[in-house]
Amino acid sequence: MRADGAEEPPAKRLKAGPPRRAPPALDERRRRLPVFQARGRLLSRLRSLDCAILIGETGSGKTTQVPQYLYEAGIGRQGIIAVTQPRRVAAISLATRVSDEKKTELGKLVGYTVRFDDLTSDETRIKFLTDGMLLREAIGDPMMQKYSVVILDEAHERTIHTDVLLGVVKAAQKKRRGLGKLPLKVIVMSATMDVDEFSQYFNDAPVLYLQGRQHPIQIFYTKQPQSDYLQAALVTIFQIHQEAPPSQDMLVFLTGQEEIEAMTKTCRDISKQLPDGLPQMVVMPLYASLPYSQQLRVFQPAPKGHRKVILSTNIAETSVTIAGIKFVVDTGMVKAKKYSPEIGLEVLAVQRVSKAQAWQRTGRAGREDSGFCYRLYTELEFERFDKMTIPEIQRCNLASVMLQLLALRIPNVLTFDFMSKPSPDAVKAAIEQLDVLGAVERREGQLVLTPLGRKMAAFPLEPKFSKTILASPKFRCTEEILTIVSLYSVDSVLYNPPSRRDEVQAVRKKFISSEGDHLTLLSLYRAFRKVNGNKTWCKQNFVNGRNMMLASDIRAQLRDICVKLSIPIESSRLDTGNIRRCLAHSLFTNAAELQPDGTYRTVDSQQVVAIHPSSVLFHCQPACVVFNGLLHTNKRYMRDLCVVDADWLYDAAPDYFRRKLRTARN
Ligand code: CDP
Ligand code: MG
Repeated sequence: MRADGAEEPPAKRLKAGPPRRAPPALDERRRRLPVFQARGRLLSRLRSLDCAILIGETGSGKTTQVPQYLYEAGIGRQGIIAVTQPRRVAAISLATRVSDEKKTELGKLVGYTVRFDDLTSDETRIKFLTDGMLLREAIGDPMMQKYSVVILDEAHERTIHTDVLLGVVKAAQKKRRGLGKLPLKVIVMSATMDVDEFSQYFNDAPVLYLQGRQHPIQIFYTKQPQSDYLQAALVTIFQIHQEAPPSQDMLVFLTGQEEIEAMTKTCRDISKQLPDGLPQMVVMPLYASLPYSQQLRVFQPAPKGHRKVILSTNIAETSVTIAGIKFVVDTGMVKAKKYSPEIGLEVLAVQRVSKAQAWQRTGRAGREDSGFCYRLYTELEFERFDKMTIPEIQRCNLASVMLQLLALRIPNVLTFDFMSKPSPDAVKAAIEQLDVLGAVERREGQLVLTPLGRKMAAFPLEPKFSKTILASPKFRCTEEILTIVSLYSVDSVLYNPPSRRDEVQAVRKKFISSEGDHLTLLSLYRAFRKVNGNKTWCKQNFVNGRNMMLASDIRAQLRDICVKLSIPIESSRLDTGNIRRCLAHSLFTNAAELQPDGTYRTVDSQQVVAIHPSSVLFHCQPACVVFNGLLHTNKRYMRDLCVVDADWLYDAAPDYFRRKLRTARN
């Protein structure tokens, strides 16, 4: 066990590990957190302030303690204290933790609400939610009357939902003050952020600093720029491993699940072949879609004589704190969304981190003692990084948020009080996209939702998926579309262990549809239902049963929304043509055609794209496809594809394609 017991998750969730001292009681751990020292001072400031910005190192106790302090001191007792999180897993695990600390059952005093999962009751006074959920709630109640305090946590991440919430909360606060209603207290929290920008936005709100624990960290840069950051990371990991004493753990920042899984395997293979006398290496992946129970493993100390090497996405940058890290290896890369309104496509791309992110990563090495950070880039390269991460709102497709703002009846989305304004081109493109989907219209010069648009906003889904559901009655395949959309609303239902690739391919064969990934997933879901979710079946077929059950639960919720909206629900049974027609009718802006030279180009903007290796169509060459999204690595890859007829696309949106063709010719 580490010297500082406060860093470990509750003992009851840990599997049997090496022998250890009994952990201190939760109350004792709460008192040991840095924020505890500041409790009195903090409360007296927060009591009198309407708005505050609270800064403190990750792990100092902001998220778990501040809501409890407020509650215990009777601040905001007249309503609910909301705490937002950009990540679903964070919201759930924090609510669990805080209800444990309060010795109450989860869902009573302390609860959580995330998309498709609500564990709250009338008794709930401290509520953790994803920022997206609070925004959704605001549609029904723009003044947020249920809440007395809104804590916008991890604000530095600048997710699009947090950014929009900033504006919504600010407006609600002002309105409530004007009407003499219960005041709304707003607290913005983070470990690192551009405090001036936040403070100014909230009319010069005071910034409160929490004293954290930070030890000196020695930073190393590479002498030369690295062309292959994965190779550089691998070399660095084993160099450190050969030189450092075993009890010192390592945290490596990579970009995404596939890369991390592959690297985990490589590291494990190499470590088996190392000469005797070196410490054993325990390699653990960490990324948001990893099942929660596996995420928890990274918090367990490595057995004696072993070194823990954690390969993580930027989730470990601020969202989780891991004890025992002495070395940080920073590739300087992150997978993030990028959007170019000219092409109208949003892509996930691997790109450079900002300086703020690099510093945050470095900080992970100095939580308990002095540490080392290996930056796999040169100092000159670092100097050229952006200072701050560009807010998501300035680099993503805005259609979904525009739909929500319009549902919130914000009179003019173009003049909404954003902290960082999205580019006018992106706003225009979003409105255009909603227009193409039939969701908006102009009434007396004002942009408003059409009845279809209002229905679309009722679904907690991206516009393209709510549109798919709403288009399905026409093709009499709502049952199937509900299944498909639900399957794409959870993390992958497919379990793909890299070490057993051939086996996986062999058993998957029987489910594969030559018509694409949507229909393959549909047949897998049908088979899963047929065996009633049997665990052995899941194991044999490399299906993630938990995510399948989750999809099934989401399906029931989406079906309820359909019933409420009086949408007729029929099944197309074995006819897959109608399902594909329906997908063509909603995903036509994501369509690509095969070219004579064997490449693909998107239909609307003639971008060169390729079929992602994970698609069942990877070795096929269908003439025309629609897809869910693009991933940009070394190429632009289409993911989740469905084979369609080119004619269906033009039928779906003749005006749109006519316009696109005209622009292309000009
Ligand atoms: O928000 P901040 O990063 O300042 O800290 P926090 O999330 O309130 O966590 C304070 C401490 O509680 C962490 O250092 C962890 O040791 C512990 N914690 C935990 O054990 N399990 C959780 N699910 C959350 C926090
Ligand atoms: Mg926190």
